[in-house]
Amino acid sequence: MKHLLSLALIVFVAFSAHAAEVGRQFIRIATEATDLILSTAPNGRLYQVYLGPKLLHEEDFGHFSPYTRRGSDSSAATRGWEAYMTAGMEDYFEPALQVTHADGNMSSLLKYASSQTNQIDENVTETIVTLKDDAYPLEVKLHYVAYARENIIKTWSEIVHQEKKPVLLHRYASGIIYFERPSYYLTEFSGDWAQEMQMNHQQLQFGKKMIDTKLGSRAAMHAYPFFELGFGQPAEESRGEVVMGTIGWTGNYRFTFEVDNLKNLRVLAGINPFASTYELQPGEVFTTPEFIFTRSDEGKGQASRNFHDWARNYQLKDGNGDRLTLLNNWENTAFTFDEKILGELMKEAKHLGVDMFLLDDGWFGNKYPRNNDRAGLGDWEAMESKLPNGVPGLVRLAKEAGVKFGIWIEPEMVNPKSELMEKHPDWAIRLPNRETYYYRNQLVLDLSNPEVQDHVFGVVDKLMTENPEIAYFKWDCNSPITNVYSPYLKEKQNQLYVNHVRGVYNVFKRVKEKYPDLPMMLCSGGGARCDYEALKYFTEFWCSDNTDPVERLFIQWGFSQFFPTKAMCAHVTSWNKNTSIKFRVDVAMMCKLGFDIGLKELSDDELAYCQQAVSNYNRLKPVILEGDFFRLVSPYETNHTAVMHVSKAKDKALVYAYDIYPRFQEKTFAVRLQGLDPERMYKVEEINLMPGAKSRFAQNGQVFSGDYLMKVGLYALTPQTLQSRILEVTAQ
Ligand code: GLA
Repeated sequence: MKHLLSLALIVFVAFSAHAAEVGRQFIRIATEATDLILSTAPNGRLYQVYLGPKLLHEEDFGHFSPYTRRGSDSSAATRGWEAYMTAGMEDYFEPALQVTHADGNMSSLLKYASSQTNQIDENVTETIVTLKDDAYPLEVKLHYVAYARENIIKTWSEIVHQEKKPVLLHRYASGIIYFERPSYYLTEFSGDWAQEMQMNHQQLQFGKKMIDTKLGSRAAMHAYPFFELGFGQPAEESRGEVVMGTIGWTGNYRFTFEVDNLKNLRVLAGINPFASTYELQPGEVFTTPEFIFTRSDEGKGQASRNFHDWARNYQLKDGNGDRLTLLNNWENTAFTFDEKILGELMKEAKHLGVDMFLLDDGWFGNKYPRNNDRAGLGDWEAMESKLPNGVPGLVRLAKEAGVKFGIWIEPEMVNPKSELMEKHPDWAIRLPNRETYYYRNQLVLDLSNPEVQDHVFGVVDKLMTENPEIAYFKWDCNSPITNVYSPYLKEKQNQLYVNHVRGVYNVFKRVKEKYPDLPMMLCSGGGARCDYEALKYFTEFWCSDNTDPVERLFIQWGFSQFFPTKAMCAHVTSWNKNTSIKFRVDVAMMCKLGFDIGLKELSDDELAYCQQAVSNYNRLKPVILEGDFFRLVSPYETNHTAVMHVSKAKDKALVYAYDIYPRFQEKTFAVRLQGLDPERMYKVEEINLMPGAKSRFAQNGQVFSGDYLMKVGLYALTPQTLQSRILEVTAQ
């Protein structure tokens, strides 16, 4: 990106339109489907004048007034949607920036100074707008990166000043966008451990709705960093205007949705300023996280596909690369294993046909062995009693078995019962003068401290240096920040939440720089870390410890709103034994497939089924990992669900259909497919059948036009409980 930037052609795009005001400038941030237009005003300030479908004629821009037109107060005549709304002036609603200057003055007023656009390549454009306070040496640069084809815009700000003493930043949003529509509906994602990404919607009325977290490290445990907006009605799947957004911050974040007296909506996204008034030194640049959003005129489905394409092309680590199938041991053995048991599991992994064996928690600690979650965290030496030949012994065994080897770590944490805690009691975030509260018997290490960053980086680096054949890490983070006090920051505690996350990124960056090709799973007691900044450094994430396939259908429905399914790890386990192995595999198969189950628990037929599914998965990876994803039937609205992947060339598709708990003799309807070529003919065949079973799908083997499949559909659902079928759709 930096490299591309330096090559970039610098083009100035701010231009004067045929506007009444002489010298009025417009800044157009455009994708193929969307325009975000900013405009200067005679008062020298910068306003958002438009965010909506792409406009055809720049000549029309002059019709936009920079000010909102209604309102009973006299200042309303010049009140507008400031591109980076400041506190202390004539707008009384939520500001993006609130500063106490060195002299104690609490107002800021930003005037437009300049703007430039760097054409990074034929698809990506970066616009940088500089705003300056006219009474103080304080400057804000607004960055907007527009991805034309993916219809994604990301924005962030940089705040810097040259005042004589530090200034206090009370609010420092990444960005703010405004809407003027008859009504606004918000879809939000909330949850808890094992209940990730539950979707709910509500109409936004006058006042503020906030979605935020104060959990610090396991940040998204209760509120996930995503939102969807529908206008006039809740956001719909396949029609209507929808805006979807997220923030790339692996810590406390906040979205504010405020409907004001003019019935306009503003949306602010940024770091949560809670307990985080930031003391900005003269010359220090405060860079806010990326606020990433998309807009679609064809509902959430298209907006999701915008995110999926953008993530694969630009954001996710190795976004367009392959993914490894695996056998994990956590649900199977928990902490109870030794080298011999693991050696057997590696052979089972090979027999199953997956690429890798992933060793989970419980392999380390000697003075304080990690035989449960109460001890050993922080002591990353193999436990001699379980693993006499250490990690090198396991790497050897995996090689002998013919599978790759991956390993679990949780390097940002410490158990009080550990050698690390004995050696470095001041490395843990912990109050010096109060009783300590432990979440999962552990504490969060203080990543604002550079020495601690070295330690955390060292955990990966040492394992990799000693075992260069380690092929994968599962990086966990089970505790929120508790007992909020950094021994390192001393009297600057208000920097902790921000500096801690920056410290985490320093470590992630070092790991990626040194091991650019190492695939890594981001995990946080399930799916509590799932933001697009962390995912620059991780190839995938663990969606939930809840692997009950019925629950997973909802969780995956939720995460697929924002993530390509290749980033979503889904494992077949023994949660919900009322469901068949087939049902469990078919649910995991739409994401990044893995297993975490004792193969000895399975009957011969079940094992053969799993082997066949793995081989189908490998054969169909180009569709599953790279295809377009369509949500067809919602589990929130029916007793069934169906989704599909379609290859970019539209020559192959997979339909996944699930009956959850239908009513007695419930009438089922045909599932209309999407994304196919209406002119092509497609053969539909059921795959993933139990050994010896014949397909009961009545239309099996028939050939249809894409037009028919999309307008009439397939009878892929049934009134039976907990049934699933996967249909392979192949262009003839
Ligand atoms: C977390 C993860 C699990 C597992 C355990 C190990 O809960 O989400 O998958 O790794 O930790 O302690």
